[in-house]
Amino acid sequence: MNWREHLAHRSQNIKPSAIREIFKLTQGKKILSFAGGMPAPGLFPVARLTEAANTVLDEQGAKALQYSTTEGYPPLREWVAQQLDGASPEGVQVVSGSQQGLDMIARILLDPGDKVAVTAPTYMGALLAFDAFEASYLPVSIDDDGMELESLERALESGAKLIYAIANFDNPTGITMSLERRHGVVELARRYGVPIYEDNPYGELRFEGDDLPHLYELAPDLVIYGGTFSKIVVPGFRLGWLVADPELLTTVTRTKQASDLHTATFTQMVAYEVLRDGFIDGQVEQIRDYYRKQRDAMLAALEKSFPKEVHWTRPRGGMFVWVTLPQGMDAMEVLKEAVSRGVAFVPGGPFYTDDTGGNTFRLSYSVATLDEIDIGMHTIGEILKSVKV
Ligand SMILES: Cc1ncc(COP(=O)(O)O)c(C=O)c1O
Repeated sequence: MNWREHLAHRSQNIKPSAIREIFKLTQGKKILSFAGGMPAPGLFPVARLTEAANTVLDEQGAKALQYSTTEGYPPLREWVAQQLDGASPEGVQVVSGSQQGLDMIARILLDPGDKVAVTAPTYMGALLAFDAFEASYLPVSIDDDGMELESLERALESGAKLIYAIANFDNPTGITMSLERRHGVVELARRYGVPIYEDNPYGELRFEGDDLPHLYELAPDLVIYGGTFSKIVVPGFRLGWLVADPELLTTVTRTKQASDLHTATFTQMVAYEVLRDGFIDGQVEQIRDYYRKQRDAMLAALEKSFPKEVHWTRPRGGMFVWVTLPQGMDAMEVLKEAVSRGVAFVPGGPFYTDDTGGNTFRLSYSVATLDEIDIGMHTIGEILKSVKV
């Protein structure tokens, strides 16, 4: 059977991951990797989760192992609603990782050819979800305060049907949207009548400064908020949530029913167990302290080792630093040389929807040790100094 001939049109649109192709280069080699966005496994609270799993099985018994409602475990929906001003439990849909939330929203809002306003660069997983429904893109430029409003307005004038935004400690840039921009983005969205998908996996991982209101909190009628358990506890639970107008969520719920009936009952209950008793507060504090030290080490190493013509972001939270090389330099070439010297990062091109960004790359400081960060940045710095600009 030639299966390609049998694929639906939308499935022909799914591209192989550029990054996976690159990482075939690294197979079989010992690589110091700043590429992945994985949480540090040493922070996973294995003992506490074991205890919570036992409590759930003791107290809930077979109920924890039975099918359950598509909307999600009611106490967990209540907990989520309490975290956001303007949210109610009916406005919470539990999903199997916030990535499923992106898929669900793309599925219910986007027709082929519909335009999504995305920052340039943006999270590749969101593009993957939108691509599957044959979306097209309107790139919005960013600076150190997040989305540039004039650029966003041009995208809205050009017919954007959805705005995709990561306001806190963006993946891939590490940038946080300022309060003024948050108001500006919401105001523009309202003026043009366009919904916003606010993706917030990193919001709890703030190292400094005050929390800013979520876009959802500024405009609960306009914003669909995606949250996750992945970065505050563990990603392997595949547990996240959408918060939105309950009327919109009715369609999400039906769509999710078709997809997987519901998110795993047992993991929802175990997650709720550690969220409910305050354990999560200490856990988040520990994660922040850990990543703050990692971030500090990376910024110090960049300062020490990278040539002064190179620009990089200074994230106030999250897991990523975004590097911009002088125009004309090719991050892919730098990567090939880096891999041959045992170091990897993610080149920036695939994070853009318009074939730009060849001179950019993303560094993640989440899993390397402090010494490895120093060594890795030294190696990349040596390569950059050896390339003629
Ligand atoms: C911006 C962004 N959105 C969504 C996700 C998906 O997270 P999860 O499906 O684990 O909740 C990630 C994961 O790294 C991410 O960086």
